[in-house]
Amino acid sequence: MRDRGVADGRSNGDLATATATKIAAAVPSPHSLVPSLLASPHLVPARNALDGTDLIFTLNSAAQARAALGESVINATVGALLDDNGRLVVHESVMGLYRQLTPPEIVPYAPITGDPAYLLALTQRHWPQLTSSGIGVATPGGTGALAVSLRNLLEPGQRLLTAAPYWGPYATLAAENGIVMETVPYPAVGAPLDIAAWRTTCESILSAQGRLLLWLNDPCHNPTGRSLTTTDRHALLQMLRELTPLGPVTLLLDFAYLDYARNQHTVRAALDDYAAFGATGDVLVGASLSLSKAFTLYGARAGALVFPWSTDLALGAALATTCRGTFSTCARAPMSVLLRMTRDQSAQRALADEHAHWSTTLTQRADALNMALRAEGLRAAPWDGGFFVAILLDDSFAVAERLQAENVFVVPMNEGLRVGVCGLKVSDAPRFAAALRKCLVA
Ligand SMILES: Cc1ncc(COP(=O)(O)O)c(C=O)c1O
Repeated sequence: MRDRGVADGRSNGDLATATATKIAAAVPSPHSLVPSLLASPHLVPARNALDGTDLIFTLNSAAQARAALGESVINATVGALLDDNGRLVVHESVMGLYRQLTPPEIVPYAPITGDPAYLLALTQRHWPQLTSSGIGVATPGGTGALAVSLRNLLEPGQRLLTAAPYWGPYATLAAENGIVMETVPYPAVGAPLDIAAWRTTCESILSAQGRLLLWLNDPCHNPTGRSLTTTDRHALLQMLRELTPLGPVTLLLDFAYLDYARNQHTVRAALDDYAAFGATGDVLVGASLSLSKAFTLYGARAGALVFPWSTDLALGAALATTCRGTFSTCARAPMSVLLRMTRDQSAQRALADEHAHWSTTLTQRADALNMALRAEGLRAAPWDGGFFVAILLDDSFAVAERLQAENVFVVPMNEGLRVGVCGLKVSDAPRFAAALRKCLVA
């Protein structure tokens, strides 16, 4: 498939460039200290043609720069939870524990693979019944976990499989590790997962390279905001199991937004399905875990890559080597915060209340947006969980650029627009939908 913009982390594409030049001259650029982007003799040739910016961050800065001019801006680019006044949401239950940290909980190096108690606590946030985190390492956020998985489960030049649309940095992570991204379609609204297409692609990858790594961002998918149905999930897991005679298959579950869902029971059911599947050992099941959204600790860079049903010591040694050879160890403070949380029932209750409150808010925002889109005669964008919905349409880069003229900022992808309901208040939904309709017919 053709990659551009958000789906290609190496080059942000036409819109970002246009955005930077036309709209956001005031936006600080990583290149602002160098006179030009001419080739550097010090860089190896392969690193000389990179853009170096990130479309999501660039568009967010452009939206903020426009707002700073006094314009009434709808900024649906951000990947962080904002309240209805545009302020960053901070979970006080977490910050209360952070403020209690003592020097020994912050200062010493953490073990290279992370504090084992932290790995267990983070794993148990997802699967409370587990008594071991299996094989795992602490990583800088979920992003670090994804990177470590590529380094160890594929050879450079091999293909990684994920569903499209996908979170744009997946492509950057793949490119940085010399991995080729391959995609299968995320199911359309109301349609079943195209299991035949998924199977064909998986078989082709397995026959070409003898191994398969699938990154699956489910439940609460970024950017569609949906989760696989139980039927689709079971069909997919069954299909993966059937492929194992062709070579080792790894399913890496990328969990980023599970605490923010319309229905926590469906999240629980999905996690239980994955646990039952992982426990069979047919397929290596791992998870990319993160405190970024769960604890509103985006900047703390706390995550983990765990394979809870594995006892493979060679896998553990390989992961540990990647840690030491890239970031060495992860920050100790957020590990200590999670450990304090596991010992503090009242903080746990407060955090559960915060998650429930913001899940309700996100549900209201997503429903308001969906209703407004339908009122304008546009395609529905139902939401199950996470911070985004995707509005599928053609020519999304041009539409996103026209929306900017209406002071509406979204992230374009090959398949459509990513709209951050994490930052889009209910009362902005009608204006958003009206602007979109105008820009579609323009
Ligand atoms: C789908 C998905 N996976 C992983 C991440 C990783 O986030 P972090 O590295 O902050 O944990 C994100 C963050 O936006 C995401 O959207």
